[in-house]
Amino acid sequence: MLGVWWALAAGALLCLPGAPGLNNGLALSPPMGWLHWERFMCETDCEKNPSSCISEQLFMQMADMMVSNGWLKAGYKYLCIDDCWLATERDDNNRLQADPTRFPGGIKKLADYVHARGLLLGIYQDVGKQTCAGYPGSLGFYELDAQTFADWGVDLLKFDGCNYESLEQLEDGYRRMSIALNHTGRHILYSCEWPLYARHLSKVNYTEVAEYCNSWRNFDDIQDSWTSLKYVIDFTAAFQDQLVPAAGPGAWNDPDMLVIGNFGLSWAQEVTQMALWSIMAAPLLMSNDLRNINPRSQALLQNQEVIAINQDSLGAQGYRVLKANSFELWEKPLAGGSLAVSVTNRQEIGGAREFLLSRSDLWKGLACKEKCYLTQLLPTRYEYGSFNASFCLPLSVNPSSTVLVRVD
Ligand code: GLA
Repeated sequence: MLGVWWALAAGALLCLPGAPGLNNGLALSPPMGWLHWERFMCETDCEKNPSSCISEQLFMQMADMMVSNGWLKAGYKYLCIDDCWLATERDDNNRLQADPTRFPGGIKKLADYVHARGLLLGIYQDVGKQTCAGYPGSLGFYELDAQTFADWGVDLLKFDGCNYESLEQLEDGYRRMSIALNHTGRHILYSCEWPLYARHLSKVNYTEVAEYCNSWRNFDDIQDSWTSLKYVIDFTAAFQDQLVPAAGPGAWNDPDMLVIGNFGLSWAQEVTQMALWSIMAAPLLMSNDLRNINPRSQALLQNQEVIAINQDSLGAQGYRVLKANSFELWEKPLAGGSLAVSVTNRQEIGGAREFLLSRSDLWKGLACKEKCYLTQLLPTRYEYGSFNASFCLPLSVNPSSTVLVRVD
């Protein structure tokens, strides 16, 4: 593995223009998996809430579900721990340790359990003195913590940005942890929150962020609501000129977790999240209870044709093409000159409305010149068939829902 450190050193020696990518060979398509935060947060009282507290039992049960209920087969392979797994103190050698009552076997044992099932394990730490929930942070211990994670067999690190002292320290910490992870020699996907914290203090240099991170959060934490979903979508569109060029194989903007299968979204809104997260080439990290999820949400999350748009090998992040009459049109170029298109009805009153999908609004790079084959993937599958190069297709879109179409 060519680490960032070596790439930087080589670049400096040769005075190469431009910057090396993270180049750790990971996340060539957006990472897929499960992350505990949105659904389970920081519940640490296992006596009162044995089935939902942050404990090794929760992760072992989710691992079992991921295998037995088709999630791993559908592509969701990272099982990720978020905040609140740590003991309140480091050990005598300054090494991190998991909370001994909630994780009696330690993280190594959990990693073995997860790996034995063909899954990968993600863990959480923070660039500052403490994590966002107040557990010991990595400041002063980047190299030691990276080595500890490697020793345990961790495969992904979500690195949060709470409790930093200055912009310099925040940015330096994100860089140093990236280099430290590469130095361990273990392939550890590096998921950052650098831009989210840095953007309040300075203009974010996305080229640099993409050199150090495999994915990065730009915006506030997602919640289980349509309001939250709309904020994330609108933020992404508002900053798409900066965000879209930074994304590509190995480096992804992260609009935060999929909350499909929980409590706050209607069916129409769940469809919108799945369609837009695929168009945005977002990491697909679900935060829900896989032990208890309704079949329709499960089928939506496991829809292979929709996942294929998210995972497309071209690795282009989609963008908003137009916003008019309370409709939003987004598109995502796909490998081979195909295109994914989504139309969201943002009017929250009344019934279905018609949107005319016109070839002239879409990507000029579309490969189909004479005959374009149109397939609707969401909310239900429907083959519209072949159209000539100047097609104009009426689509019926329910309020707060999205129609996702593939053009080949
Ligand atoms: C921050 C992050 C969240 C989550 C919490 C944990 O708010 O943005 O995704 O990790 O911290 O405390």
